[in-house]
Amino acid sequence: MIANTPIVSIFHPSSKPKNNIQVQGWIRNKRNSKQISFITINDGSCLQSLQIVLDHSQFSESSSKDWHIGASVQIFGDLVASQGAKQTLEMQAKSIQLLGASNTTTYPLQPKKHSLDFLRENIHLRIRTNTFSAIFRIRHALSFAIHQYFHEKNFFCVHTPILTQNDTEGAGELFKVTTLPLNNVPKNEQQTVDFSKDFFSKKCHLTVSGQLHGEIAAMGLGKIYTFGPTFRAENSNTTRHLAEFWMVEPEMAFYDLHNNITLATDFLKYIIGYVWDTCKEDLCFLAQRKNSSPCKQSSTAFDNMPLMDKIQQILTKPCIIISYTEAIAILEKSQPYKKNKFQYPIKWGIDLQAEHEKYLVEKYFQQPVVITDYPQSIKAFYMRQNEDGKTVAAMDILFPGVGEVIGGSQREERIDYLSKAMQYWKVDQEKMSWYLDTRRFGTVPHSGFGMGLERLLLFLTGMENIRDVVPFPRTPGKIDC
Ligand code: 4AD
Ligand code: MG
Repeated sequence: MIANTPIVSIFHPSSKPKNNIQVQGWIRNKRNSKQISFITINDGSCLQSLQIVLDHSQFSESSSKDWHIGASVQIFGDLVASQGAKQTLEMQAKSIQLLGASNTTTYPLQPKKHSLDFLRENIHLRIRTNTFSAIFRIRHALSFAIHQYFHEKNFFCVHTPILTQNDTEGAGELFKVTTLPLNNVPKNEQQTVDFSKDFFSKKCHLTVSGQLHGEIAAMGLGKIYTFGPTFRAENSNTTRHLAEFWMVEPEMAFYDLHNNITLATDFLKYIIGYVWDTCKEDLCFLAQRKNSSPCKQSSTAFDNMPLMDKIQQILTKPCIIISYTEAIAILEKSQPYKKNKFQYPIKWGIDLQAEHEKYLVEKYFQQPVVITDYPQSIKAFYMRQNEDGKTVAAMDILFPGVGEVIGGSQREERIDYLSKAMQYWKVDQEKMSWYLDTRRFGTVPHSGFGMGLERLLLFLTGMENIRDVVPFPRTPGKIDC
């Protein structure tokens, strides 16, 4: 049996003509002339498709009728220098075997540009297009770079649970998990749901963050990261939110906020740099796609910049670091504020809205911004209180075009402060006794952050809707495939 040659190795710069090779893939396009037919096949290993030349003298017309777009084929033949300008090499077929037929009249993908909306309705097929296969190859490279970065820095990967009792962020956006019969829910004396009859004998839901378990692990392993799916039942149908998204969360013992920011910015540059170095073909394709789409002219210079320049700028420019208080001062002096153009009010204590973040990142600084030391009242219970008693040692990293990519903080390691904060935020301290033990026994200053994988992918691919950078999006009302 002859080994299969992936198309990516055929288009490797060192690749040369070669006889008797075999390729397998799906037909992307087909073109007939009098004596010869051309089909292009793609096997997903790279963006480029391989052109196959079929000489009619060798192949009967009856066999060629099955070579439809979408069909899977196995082809044996010779790799030769191409006559055409579009590719360096092409294949002269000696034999072609149909593996799986496809019906031209019912196969939804045609060799033309489909709208993203149409492709979202065909989630199960869109990965066969150039745009989506490019996005998901980049997603793979990014995930690989994340593991490589932390491995090189002596972090340990810890698998934190998906089924949990705790609501780390306290925002109440929880998906409940139960095996109780929904048509006959057991009730207790108070006529509320009797969770003692449930699978875990208590309430359970899907995790919103692996952080609290990550903190436990950091107290034994020093530097850890967790990287997995997280779930939020936010009913926000935006282009930036998913109900199921992937988050990478490092947690480091002995790190203060400053160390945390240094790590986060270095991490971002490393993983973006890795994608830049290894995914050029896919990035260039997506950049061209963006240029040729009738994109609206934006009011900000950064928005109008070509994708490759945006990425380069991130790699070369340092991140701006400002405090929340400074950010508010900038916003209060801004033109849109003075001209009443912001929809939401601005005053110290508010949660920054997308329009405020957009102004700071895309108009004012025109580069990524780290905002630190937010008011305690708008952040989670576990963040370390600052000396001023009003703010916490938090940091968010905002990217142009995307908004918040990273959220993190130094953690409150002083048990009395933590206990007070938990009381204030109504976090059950008895139930969370295991978490408080990290502060009872050998507590240390420690910090961490969470990066939304899809948010960074939005930036890297130039896509505008988060549903297009996750293979199977879960959003309110949508879980079809
Ligand atoms: O800022 P968040 O809520 O922080 C945490 O969950 C912390 N426990 C992280 C930590 O310190 N270990 O979420 C972190 C990041 C955000 O900055 C954003 O990139 C992403 O997760 N994110 C979402 N991405 C897609 N859809 C959503 N609904 C998201 N919510 C947060
Ligand atoms: Mg956040």
